[in-house]
Amino acid sequence: MTTVTTTPVAPAATAAADFHQRVIGDAAAAVRGLTVSLGRRLGLYRALAEHGPLTAAQLAERTGISERYAVEWLHAQLSAEYVERRQDAIGTDTYVLPAAHAAVLADPDAVTYAAGFFTALKALYATEDLLVEAYRTGDGVGWAEHDPALDTGMGSFFEPTYQHRLLSEWVPSLHDVPEKLAAGGTVADVGCGVGHTTLLIAEAFPHATVHGFDYSEEAITIARQLAEDAGLSDRVVFDVASADDYPGTGYDLVTFFNCLHDMGDPVAAAQHVRKSLDADGTWMLVESNVSPDDVDAGTPAARMFMALSAVMCLPVAVAQRGPHALGNHSGEQAFRAIATEAGFGRWRRATETPVNAVYEVRP
Ligand SMILES: C[S@@+](CC[C@H](N)C(=O)[O-])C[C@H]1O[C@@H](n2cnc3c(N)ncnc32)[C@H](O)[C@@H]1O
Repeated sequence: MTTVTTTPVAPAATAAADFHQRVIGDAAAAVRGLTVSLGRRLGLYRALAEHGPLTAAQLAERTGISERYAVEWLHAQLSAEYVERRQDAIGTDTYVLPAAHAAVLADPDAVTYAAGFFTALKALYATEDLLVEAYRTGDGVGWAEHDPALDTGMGSFFEPTYQHRLLSEWVPSLHDVPEKLAAGGTVADVGCGVGHTTLLIAEAFPHATVHGFDYSEEAITIARQLAEDAGLSDRVVFDVASADDYPGTGYDLVTFFNCLHDMGDPVAAAQHVRKSLDADGTWMLVESNVSPDDVDAGTPAARMFMALSAVMCLPVAVAQRGPHALGNHSGEQAFRAIATEAGFGRWRRATETPVNAVYEVRP
């Protein structure tokens, strides 16, 4: 009788093989992000959502793309389990975007929409050489050193949350603010990016005077165009200005959405907010709801914020050469300390989502 001996696989080798698969999966997701951006820009997800099931030829015809590319793009979506494949009556492959996936990839009005972010990838990946240098020297990579796709992509990242929560939950959570704005208060939305929040506030409070400020010229150009498109350009003024010297005083509400941590001198910004606010005004500070304790939380939100901080938020803040470079997950205590140092006396966590914390800060 022959005895077959097998060499046991060392646990470390098995662990390495498993981890290898995990990292290959991450690499696949990193490349797939580009196919998501293409799918959004070319209207491929929308066509599947509205007209599916579609064959590759039908998808190509409806969206005006080459059929050969449609086949390859669909294979990438199929392998990612973003779309499903079925066969029609004569055995031809057709592709379906399930309704739950359409709410993430095809419907910009859904709270779960996430496809808009991926356009930021080209701006982020393009800074790799600058980041290598910055990591070695300790210098930063400024917002303006990125392609304007960063403004659009970051705007899209948070927009669904803003659309669904800002007016229904966040503004109402602030003492007195809805009443003041309904009666015609003044608002400064600082670090407004492409202005989604500015426009939402202006639209909801037609008697309020609303200003949007950002130090990115590209973002302000896009914001002005969006205001024009929304028919709001007579009521909303967008200007290029830094957080520590934007114009105006006596504001009833100053808002910072996901941007204080990007600033090199957040204390100077907070001091300027204090000066520009009415004595009874409110600073609405929205920041990530992620802290250093979440490094090993393993949630998609924590992973996303921590990755973004290493390649965008921290280098942007460092480039401003201020005394602080917070990173995007420095946590409530760090923000509260900045507000206190700037002379604010009242601090309240007004509301939160798994992704964002909304702070009400008052003199
Ligand atoms: C992550 S984006 C958030 C944009 C927008 N508030 C939103 O939530 O969609 C951060 C923004 O902060 C702006 N920013 C960074 N530092 C700034 C500063 N010192 N003054 C004004 N804006 C600044 C950037 O240009 C960028 O638009």
